[in-house]
Amino acid sequence: MIKNLNLVNFRNYQKAAYTFSNGLIFITGDNGAGKTTILEAIGIVSFLKSFRLAHDKEMLRFDAPFYRIEAEYASLNESHSVAIAYGKNPEVTAAPAVKKYSFDGRVGEKAANIIGKVATVVLSPDDMNIIAGDHTERRRFLDLLLSMLYPAYFSALQHYHRALKLRSQALKARPDEGVLAAIDRELAGAGLIILERRREFIPEFATPFADAVAKISGARDEWCLAYRGDTERVASLDDYLSLLKDRRANDLRLKQTTAGIHRDRLYFHAGDGTSDNREIRMIGSQGQKRTAALALKMAQFAYMRARSQTTPILLIDDILNELDVLRRAQFIDFLGSAAIGQVFFTTTDLIGVQDFLGRLEKTSPIQNIELF
Ligand SMILES: Nc1ncnc2c1ncn2[C@@H]1O[C@H](COP(=O)(O)OP(=O)(O)O)[C@@H](O)[C@H]1O
Ligand SMILES: [Mg+2]
Repeated sequence: MIKNLNLVNFRNYQKAAYTFSNGLIFITGDNGAGKTTILEAIGIVSFLKSFRLAHDKEMLRFDAPFYRIEAEYASLNESHSVAIAYGKNPEVTAAPAVKKYSFDGRVGEKAANIIGKVATVVLSPDDMNIIAGDHTERRRFLDLLLSMLYPAYFSALQHYHRALKLRSQALKARPDEGVLAAIDRELAGAGLIILERRREFIPEFATPFADAVAKISGARDEWCLAYRGDTERVASLDDYLSLLKDRRANDLRLKQTTAGIHRDRLYFHAGDGTSDNREIRMIGSQGQKRTAALALKMAQFAYMRARSQTTPILLIDDILNELDVLRRAQFIDFLGSAAIGQVFFTTTDLIGVQDFLGRLEKTSPIQNIELF
């Protein structure tokens, strides 16, 4: 659980400090009061990025030189602190902005040593994009979940994206064989680590996902997931290298890397058919897509808890009022039955969520935070 959160120059917060209890925390306030910003900050502590996909400079309070987020958290009877600071030295005009991580006061910690220390699952209206949007969104979901669980996966991703960038620069510059071969080795090495983790994940995630879909839809929907792509032929480092090699002429013409884990696809589809035209995003109703999105996050919660043996913190942004009666009841059941730990909710007013409060306060203490 997050015990304390301190914000400096983060969006609308010049300086703010919050102390949270374990249990359910309702953050209320008008539009623009800064509710989502609090969840965004906790998200950054957890997975180092904005779940709103904002860049650091957009989150920097207008005209401030730096922002800082610091959280003290408790896990398995231990307390630690994580801090993230971003900005530039105001004394040096041309200085680039830098981002620094600290753990227990030690500045300069590697990102891979910070990510996932605080495990979270975010539920937001944007989750629909994972189901209904393109494969980039779905890869992002996969990468985030696996990065929180496995720092080595996160490191491999960083490595992979550096190599990918180098390769596209090289492809544009018509490089010699040796240069491309060296970059390919980097790319394949990191890519294989990522591919293997994803391959292990997909079948393991199938059951929690199917369970959650059945639960939220009242057993009416049945969706499966599948991982597809050119990497299907890859079973070893040599295979990965030969995939890159086979594509090289094509890649040189297009000046980009056209095969690899950054192009693989994750499908959510009906029954056991895997053809593109049976995807939820094609055939699902609005309500079914919303059910699938909610189920996806409930499954993420179950999966992460089983894997890490700690209960992730839930960050629930604005979705309470969006759910229809059936899904809301199922969702309350889930929150009431799963031994949830700390849960943050944002909502403009509590009136619409009285049923939540009524049913949940029997099992979890409730803290209200009102923003003005
Ligand atoms: N970089 C920034 N500097 C200062 N204020 C910002 C910045 N980014 C956003 N804001 C403001 O911060 C407020 C917080 O927004 P948000 O957390 O999304 O509100 P809520 O979720 O309560 O509707 C908004 O009023 C927004 O205009
Ligand atoms: Mg908001």
